[in-house]
Amino acid sequence: MIAFKKTTTQPKRIVVTSALPYANGPIHIGHLVEYIQTDIYVRFLKLCGIDAAYCCADDTHGTPIEINAAKQGISPERLIAKYHAEHQQDFKGFLIEFDSYYSTNSPENQTYADLIFTALKDAGHIYQKKVENFYDEKEGRFLPDRYVKGECPKCGAPDQYGDVCEKCNATYSPTDLVNPYSIVSGERPVRKASVHYFFRLSSFSERLSAWLTGNTELQKEVVNHVMRWVEEGLQDWDISRDGPYFGFRIPGEKDKYYYVWLDAPIGYISSTENYVRERNSREPDPKRHLSTADYWKSDSSRIIHFIGKDIIYFHLLFWPAMLMASGFRLPDKVVVHGFLTINREKMSKSRGTFITARDYLSRLDPLYLRYYYAANLTSKPGDLDLDFEDFKAKTNNELVGNIANFTYRTLSFLKTRLGGRTGGLRLRDYETEAGEVVEILGRIRKDYEGLEFREAVKGINELASIGNRFFQEREPWKLAADEPEEARAVLTFCANVVKELAITLKPVLPTFSAGLEAQLGLKGLSWKDLGFTINETIIKGAEILVGKLEEVDLRIPADEDPSGKGKGAAAGPAGAALPLDLRVAKVVAVEDHPDADKLIIMRIDLGGEERQIVAGIRQWYRKEDLVGRNLVVVANLEPAKLRGVESQAMLLACDGGKDIEVIFADASSPGDRVGFEGAAVSSATVSFPQFQGFDLQARKGAVLFAGKPLRTSSEPIVTRRIPDGKVR
Ligand code: 2FM
Ligand code: ZN
Repeated sequence: MIAFKKTTTQPKRIVVTSALPYANGPIHIGHLVEYIQTDIYVRFLKLCGIDAAYCCADDTHGTPIEINAAKQGISPERLIAKYHAEHQQDFKGFLIEFDSYYSTNSPENQTYADLIFTALKDAGHIYQKKVENFYDEKEGRFLPDRYVKGECPKCGAPDQYGDVCEKCNATYSPTDLVNPYSIVSGERPVRKASVHYFFRLSSFSERLSAWLTGNTELQKEVVNHVMRWVEEGLQDWDISRDGPYFGFRIPGEKDKYYYVWLDAPIGYISSTENYVRERNSREPDPKRHLSTADYWKSDSSRIIHFIGKDIIYFHLLFWPAMLMASGFRLPDKVVVHGFLTINREKMSKSRGTFITARDYLSRLDPLYLRYYYAANLTSKPGDLDLDFEDFKAKTNNELVGNIANFTYRTLSFLKTRLGGRTGGLRLRDYETEAGEVVEILGRIRKDYEGLEFREAVKGINELASIGNRFFQEREPWKLAADEPEEARAVLTFCANVVKELAITLKPVLPTFSAGLEAQLGLKGLSWKDLGFTINETIIKGAEILVGKLEEVDLRIPADEDPSGKGKGAAAGPAGAALPLDLRVAKVVAVEDHPDADKLIIMRIDLGGEERQIVAGIRQWYRKEDLVGRNLVVVANLEPAKLRGVESQAMLLACDGGKDIEVIFADASSPGDRVGFEGAAVSSATVSFPQFQGFDLQARKGAVLFAGKPLRTSSEPIVTRRIPDGKVR
């Protein structure tokens, strides 16, 4: 019997991964369950001072990528580069912060793939065997199961894939299909033999069993499931594919490649290498430099994978066996989550519920989805349902109605009624409440550690409820006039609870927490700053940071162009959220664009931050009429080059057809936000096509976003010469 040796020492460092998305399609909100879950966990670890690195990459190899690139008439390299850029944008939009986002098509990944393959081969774990597969003679290629269709051998249903019948659920191999055809050429495929490489997974059964049953950090239900496979007997694994294939060529072969699933998980190691290199380049002291082995071959590290339940076989059998056989550290934890359903149904294009990251971001602030996922995630691999009604209710009752309501009422009371000063904290008078707070904080930490985010969010709501109840019971509004110091003591207790909320919410809602920190006049709070640490301090601001959701219907209308263009009114906010970061900016200087006679280049001040913008208003405005004035700009638009000059924001102007009017906000100050009543603002970057889809217009002189009048805290945003027109 082989025993599994578990490391018990405290880890010095942790590498955390999410499954690598295929560089073959957009990120959708189903994927985001995992990336948000992992991101929350890593942010939590870092908040507790743990040296954690979140490493991920695009999964770039395989037949679908190669075929899709060919269909589009581009090289696979170009296709994967396009998705690499898009995926990173999408993740950034959802505040998912990787320490390394790399690619499996990297030299490091090839090196590690060859190293592991060679180690397996040298140890006798790999053998060659002739196998027969379907071959498309017209296309000159072997066909993976999913590329052959035909009639189900059991029920005769037409157009079924080569592995499973969607009608009767029968499973079979592609060669069992009746009247098979290639989905690439439509031709009937022939059977053709070729020599493949196999990994002797079967000889790892005992070691895998020991690891699966000895590692108490694995989820029980997952282990039970995998142990059933082990007990049924493990099959050896075919790890090669014949060309044409997009992947790494097998050493010594002319036209055979590693199967994508061989080098995909190795991407975890090469992404770590990419991270280590960047980290070292920031570290001047060579003694403190790390190596990839400090993560992947060390007893003082931990490796944690987050995956979906569809890829358990790869991560709990193939991958650990490969690692065992080649002398790497085994995963310490594999966190398996379930699938996302929408209104209790599978995501589906025809129901309009195949919602991409971009679709979502063009409608709502990412913070709502992060909150909702956190509020529903547990450590178990059960499915998670995004129910639009529940989404709205949870957001409005908990996040807005309880948490944000408490933070705003505390800060605005301090600011407007008590001169923005806290002080005179008397914990002894508030022993019961303070004790409750401390007890809850302990629970929240345990819940984050145990990946029980739903419980952590419940705890956070309990904190806010205690705060709200305390505020209500002490009635500071009655004290403020005659006994301001009494009121201040009450509010100082509340300000501490606001700080505890800012800290405990940081992993889930980093931007909301940053907003609270700024208003409290604090910076870089971490877990160790919990406890009643605020006494005398100056409150810097009191702004509403998150607005209520109105109608929530994230479905994509059937006739909508998936490119994101022409979304028109449908793309308006479903709730009181503004996907644009609109700000007041003062024009500091204006000059003509050297290479375009319609363009000017302006330096603008966004309240402490200077930027350059390029605008096509040269024929409408003289320079001297612009300098010194305040206008409204979109501050979160992707920077773009206009005739070679970078524009880092865009001004708003009303287009009346024959005339253009720049939208000014002279009664406001640079940096002031422009929004509508109660709106939460997203600072996630938007692309120009996304921006064009937003419904911004002037009606009777009022500038509206999706029908709601825009304003700053000092004035409504209006047009003066052109009452009706499109604002862009
Ligand atoms: O299932 C998938 O989407 C794969 N691209 C996941 C790969 S995870 C890892 F093994 F690389
Ligand atoms: Zn069938």
